[in-house]
Amino acid sequence: MIAPATASTIGKMANGIADNMLITTYLSMKAPVFIAPAMDLDMYRHPSTQHNLEVLKSYGNHIIEAADGFLASHLVGKGRMQEPEVIIEQLEKFFSSSLPMKGKKVMITAGPTYEKIDPVRFIGNYSSGKMGFALAEECANRGAEVTLISGPVSLSVNNPLIKRVDVECADEMYRAAKEEFSNCDAAILCAAVADFTPEESAPTKIKRGKDDMVLRLKPTQDIAAALGKEKRDNQILVGFALETNNEQKNAREKLERKRFNFIVLNSLNDKGAGFRHDTNKISIIDKESVTEYPLKSKDEVAKDIIDKLNKEF
Ligand code: C5P
Repeated sequence: MIAPATASTIGKMANGIADNMLITTYLSMKAPVFIAPAMDLDMYRHPSTQHNLEVLKSYGNHIIEAADGFLASHLVGKGRMQEPEVIIEQLEKFFSSSLPMKGKKVMITAGPTYEKIDPVRFIGNYSSGKMGFALAEECANRGAEVTLISGPVSLSVNNPLIKRVDVECADEMYRAAKEEFSNCDAAILCAAVADFTPEESAPTKIKRGKDDMVLRLKPTQDIAAALGKEKRDNQILVGFALETNNEQKNAREKLERKRFNFIVLNSLNDKGAGFRHDTNKISIIDKESVTEYPLKSKDEVAKDIIDKLNKEF
């Protein structure tokens, strides 16, 4: 909310003249922007100001203007800043209608898991966590309360609606997810969880030797399948699948077995999709249909997935 916004500030915003902290903040802002112009009536009416306000509207900014009217029996005209109470009223109206997930609780798993071999080595995978973190941000932007259970990643969150729970291995992720799930309206299982973990992790660093080294692995818990079993009818479970072959058939089989409401398929065969990329190309598969989406940024993909989630509620 920029109030009061002078003719000069409005001109700079419309033309990208980032020579002060306000305009640099404005130019990098991802949230909705509201502008309350405040100036002399003639300055306000000037075609330059009117043109700049039109430009700002075309950028998707919201202009909150005062109308002509009487205030304490004085004639007050356009150009003056709208009354603060009216500004607050308009903001409240905007945000309550733009938060369709207010009151919803969503759990999201993200990132890889690290399965310990010894104090310095682990079995991991290439998951960056970017997709899961983008989903968490998207849910929070729509007003949901999010619990983000994340494996080891180098990403940060700075959103008061996102509670982050850091875990390392599949077993820790399983326990955190089990604890959280019953309080949630929906869970999105985006993490690339290890399917196997070393039967034992050595207490000290394993030394080089002449013989072959055999590492015995045991299966981990399938978090998705466990939550699928305890899922209530009013809870929504969303899974991911990364397949190298028979993509749709495998994904559909997973949808049934893990009792997902829908599954997001990303294929390793598509350039720019999946691990470590900033983009992703997905199909969403539910019981009735398959919907394919073009290659998009992970933030845009998150919007598509959360749109679909909201149709399920
Ligand atoms: O069977 P697959 O591992 O391909 O299934 C992928 C889906 O299952 C993903 O949603 C993933 O997060 C979830 N999963 C899980 N726990 C595991 C393995 C996979 O929650 N141990």
